[in-house]
Order: sequence, then C-alpha cells, then structure tokens
Amino acid sequence: MTDHIRFAGHGVLVTGAARGIGAAVARRFAEEGGRVLVTDRDLPEAERTAAALRQHGLGAQALVCDIADRTSVEAAVAHAVAAFGLLDVLVNCAAHCSPDAPLFEDDHDEAWALDLDVTLTGAYRCCRAALPHLATSGRGAIVSIGSVNGLQDFGNHA
Ligand SMILES: NC(=O)c1ccc[n+]([C@@H]2O[C@H](COP(=O)([O-])OP(=O)(O)OC[C@H]3O[C@@H](n4cnc5c(N)ncnc54)[C@H](O)[C@@H]3O)[C@@H](O)[C@H]2O)c1
Repeated sequence: MTDHIRFAGHGVLVTGAARGIGAAVARRFAEEGGRVLVTDRDLPEAERTAAALRQHGLGAQALVCDIADRTSVEAAVAHAVAAFGLLDVLVNCAAHCSPDAPLFEDDHDEAWALDLDVTLTGAYRCCRAALPHLATSGRGAIVSIGSVNGLQDFGNHA
C-alpha cells in the first residue's frame, strides 16, 4: 500500500491488466484512489485480479476487452464512462509477445502483421476511442507502455 493518494475519483482504464505489469499498474492506481477498469482479453484472469483489489477495499471491476477488435475497445471505453461517469486515464499495456519468437531474419509476415495489429494498432484503437472522453475530463492522460525491444533486439521485432 502507498500513502500517496494522487488519483482520488479518477476513472482509469488499463488494457492487458489481468496479469504482469498491467495488473501492477491497476493495483497502484487503485491504491492511490482511482476507480479502475481492469480489462484484458482473458476475462477470468481479469476478474481474479479485480476481485483481489476489491478484497483490499480498492475500487476495481473487470471487463473483457480485446484491443485487436475495434468494437470491443469501444465497448470497454463506453463501459468505463458509464461506470465512473468520466474517463481520466488510459493505460495501454496489452501487447502481443511470443516467448519463442523467431530471429529477425526468420520472422514471418503473418507474425509481423499480428504483432503490429495488436501492440501498435491496438494502442491506437484505444487512444482513438478514449480521446474524446479524456479531453472532456479536463485532466485526461494516456500512458503507453513501451519496451526494451525498442532499444535492443529481444525478439518480437514489430
Ligand atoms: N515483462 C517485461 O520485461 C517487459 C519489459 C518492457 C516492456 N514490457 C511491456 O509491458 C507490457 C506488459 O508486459 P507484461 O510482461 O506484463 O506482459 P504479460 O504477457 O504478463 O501480460 C500481457 C497481458 O496482455 C493481455 N493481452 C494480450 N493480447 C491482448 C489483446 N489482444 N487484448 C487485450 N489484452 C491482451 C494478456 O492476456 C496479458 O494479460 C507490454 O506492453 C510489454 O511490451 C514488458
């Protein structure tokens, strides 16, 4: 837990929040007073993550959201606005990552296209859907999680 309360009353939508970094981001926002929509394409895991936050008295609910699907993204943003009355923060954390990614020179067009569609275009879909609401809130912010892959080749080149 933290003593800092920077996000009291803020509506926060985190993608890829069922586990890993996204789940940690969701927890930190909730600990700092935010009302967090824990979204992921893995709904059961997202529900477990949100339930664990609620057990600690924190404001969190779960919703399925596949960032590769425009309709799913728009539904998640609409849900956040309806549930919280506003949307102040979007965190783009979902990403497509293969543990057994091939070498750069062996990569397939299909794998490249999938990585781009989820990790890059997915973040764009979320920004596009959220932006009008973030602008309305007057304190809107978008945080997009980058990767060390931008600095050095660890696979998942796209
Ligand atoms: N783990 C690291 O060392 C590391 C380092 C630098 C950056 N990052 C970045 O941080 C972010 C999260 O990484 P992580 O290690 O926590 O990953 P992770 O694999 O543990 O979690 C990713 C989450 O995204 C979800 N997801 C995948 N595709 C999705 C989709 N189409 N729609 C919605 N959700 C989807 C998964 O279900 C999963 O819950 C990624 O953007 C990654 O590039 C990770």
